[in-house]
Amino acid sequence: MFNSKICVVTGAAQGIGRTVVERFANNGATMVYALDMNGDVLNEAFMNQSNVKPIVVDICDRPAITDLVEQIKSDYGRVDVLVNNAGITRDALIENMTEQDWDLVVDVNLKGVFNVTQAIAPIMVAQDYGSIITMSSVVGTDGNIGQSNYAATKGGVIAMTKTWAKEFARKGAQVRANCVAPGFVETPMTADLPEKVLDMMKDKTPLSRMATPEDIANGVEFLASDKSSFITGQVLKIDGGLVL
Ligand SMILES: NC(=O)c1ccc[n+]([C@@H]2O[C@H](COP(=O)([O-])OP(=O)(O)OC[C@H]3O[C@@H](n4cnc5c(N)ncnc54)[C@H](O)[C@@H]3O)[C@@H](O)[C@H]2O)c1
Repeated sequence: MFNSKICVVTGAAQGIGRTVVERFANNGATMVYALDMNGDVLNEAFMNQSNVKPIVVDICDRPAITDLVEQIKSDYGRVDVLVNNAGITRDALIENMTEQDWDLVVDVNLKGVFNVTQAIAPIMVAQDYGSIITMSSVVGTDGNIGQSNYAATKGGVIAMTKTWAKEFARKGAQVRANCVAPGFVETPMTADLPEKVLDMMKDKTPLSRMATPEDIANGVEFLASDKSSFITGQVLKIDGGLVL
């Protein structure tokens, strides 16, 4: 499905990102650039995969992102798929949220996504082909207690995605931008939540379970592939019916 494709995935060391990288790599991608700031976990994850290139980088580091994209351009001359997956949480009720935690989450989840997309989108527009998938969340449309910072960023990436869909289309380029909005997913990000909270989430979800990273990768794979070639500016919820 991804034969001869060059893909870039951020937050690739674990959880959803790792599963997405494996999906592309196992479906014929020529090369998957797997970006993460956690070098140990990243390098261990993809030690034996010849069509995955682990790159230790912080998506907030604009010069490093620019250099990396220059390198990809000189290696392959193109980028077909970008998955903006890296994201963090620093939860607190508004009265307790520190400025530092606000700034950090906005820097990674919003500006980091902007940094990587700004570097890669011109390549896609020039080659008249590309798919950008950005990881939002159901809290980006519906909010969540204790997540002012996170919810703001996950709503923000939806607005950026719709903007990109319009901008790239106006250039006449077949470059698409879409979001995936998961509900609760079994990954290291949710592993430390108290059992009580996880049970409450499952109870609230009509399909009565959390998502697996594979559930989310299925949606990413569809939006990255040519099967979705007439879909742009959309938000695909993968939440077991949590938000209806
Ligand atoms: N797990 C969930 O329930 C859930 C629900 C909705 C949305 N999401 C979103 O899905 C995405 C992936 O979530 P996950 O659960 O797999 O998370 P995770 O915490 O398991 O993995 C995130 C990865 O991103 C990397 N990362 C963090 N900051 C980075 C930075 N500045 N530069 C480069 N890499 C960085 C981390 O090192 C980590 O490997 C995130 O955007 C998250 O907000 C997750």
